[in-house]
Amino acid sequence: MIRAVKGTRDILPAETPGWQRVEDAARRLLARYGFREIRTPAFEETQLFARSIGGETDIVSKEMYTFDDRDGSSLTLRPEATAGVARAVIEHNLAETDPILKLFMIGPMFRREQPQKGRQRQFHQINVEAFGMTRPSVDVEMIELSLALLDCCGMKEGDLFLNSVGDANCRPRYVAALREALRTEEDRLCADCRRRSETNPLRVLDCKVAADQAIIERLPRITDYLCPQCRDHFNEVRRQLDLLDVPYRLNHRLVRGLDYYTRTTFEIVARSEALGAQNSVLGGGRYDGLIKDLGGPDLAGIGFAIGMERLVLASSRVEIDEKRCDVFLVPLGAPAFDRALVAQRDLRRSGRSALIDHEARGLKAQMRKADKIGARYVALLGDNELARGVWSVRDMTDSRQEEVPEEDFVGFIERRFNG
Ligand code: HAM
Repeated sequence: MIRAVKGTRDILPAETPGWQRVEDAARRLLARYGFREIRTPAFEETQLFARSIGGETDIVSKEMYTFDDRDGSSLTLRPEATAGVARAVIEHNLAETDPILKLFMIGPMFRREQPQKGRQRQFHQINVEAFGMTRPSVDVEMIELSLALLDCCGMKEGDLFLNSVGDANCRPRYVAALREALRTEEDRLCADCRRRSETNPLRVLDCKVAADQAIIERLPRITDYLCPQCRDHFNEVRRQLDLLDVPYRLNHRLVRGLDYYTRTTFEIVARSEALGAQNSVLGGGRYDGLIKDLGGPDLAGIGFAIGMERLVLASSRVEIDEKRCDVFLVPLGAPAFDRALVAQRDLRRSGRSALIDHEARGLKAQMRKADKIGARYVALLGDNELARGVWSVRDMTDSRQEEVPEEDFVGFIERRFNG
């Protein structure tokens, strides 16, 4: 038997209502904040991700699905959305035509990670980006939006973590201090961290190896190295979060697993047990240099992404109305079947959902099926009904049955639903 590839999952029909609920709620809320949808391709030129996410990150160095196209060019399935959205903004000059450039994208991402609960190789994100806005109030709006989004999608309990990673002005000084401090600890760090100490010391702060944690805690902290502009920005973000009663916790190690971030970074961690170790539901931050680095204008950016699998796992389950059918038609015999086909078409034209058992099984089997799919009405057409030109219509909520003249059948159902 051919099975789904490791790390991928089918979202089955019983689950899709939960996903649609999340997507619908997100779309409605995002519209209120002025965001519009963009859909970029699932694969891009490999260099787009290498240049934006950074060659020394886990994502680029270990996790990308990269392949050579037949013409020799290197392509990669998108491991995240920001790079592709940034490319599209540059390619189509979107900032010139849209005075408030706020974009969102919903779709699958691909990373070759070790699968576990809440971690897949194909997963889905709601990705939200705002361009051309530099002020701290934008950071606060994005953070407040991220909490509101999780809330409206059913995740009520989460902790917000906040940090500033500085900018091109102050971060080099911090990175130099970090590298210096790491040299003295080199022998005691894991192999990955020893390598990163030279190539990209910030990534050491992401390390999850237990033995390294005490060492990492003693390392210099970015917040002590921020330049006055970055410090002012961060203080203002914090002041406005307090103003809006948004609780947060500072985490000086929150450098995030991607290199494009500047200044504010944030993450929301679910309190729900349902997620186990993979409890980070949302992550984001500012990336003011990215568009310019990719060859575009000097345009600020800030955004975040929600992991949809994790959000669905962490959301309180709302009972979903599984009713799929307004009227289940049960014709008995060939002439009745023809009449039912016409009635099914007319019911659907009038806006109702109607179904027929095409295999035309016996009455009992059909009634069982109607019950199982949650039909509201069952309409029966046997020899008796045919002879008298009526349908026997049973209301499945109270099992009451009445006869309805054939010519009034669709109207009768309509009145039941609208009246
Ligand atoms: P990220 O932190 O790599 O950020 O991913 C965001 C979210 O995607 C995570 O918090 C998590 O919920 C989900 N996620 C990541 N990897 C997996 C996986 N293997 N399986 C299931 N869920 C996963 C970004 O992707 C940035 N592009 C976010 C951003 C947008 N920053 C600025 N704008």
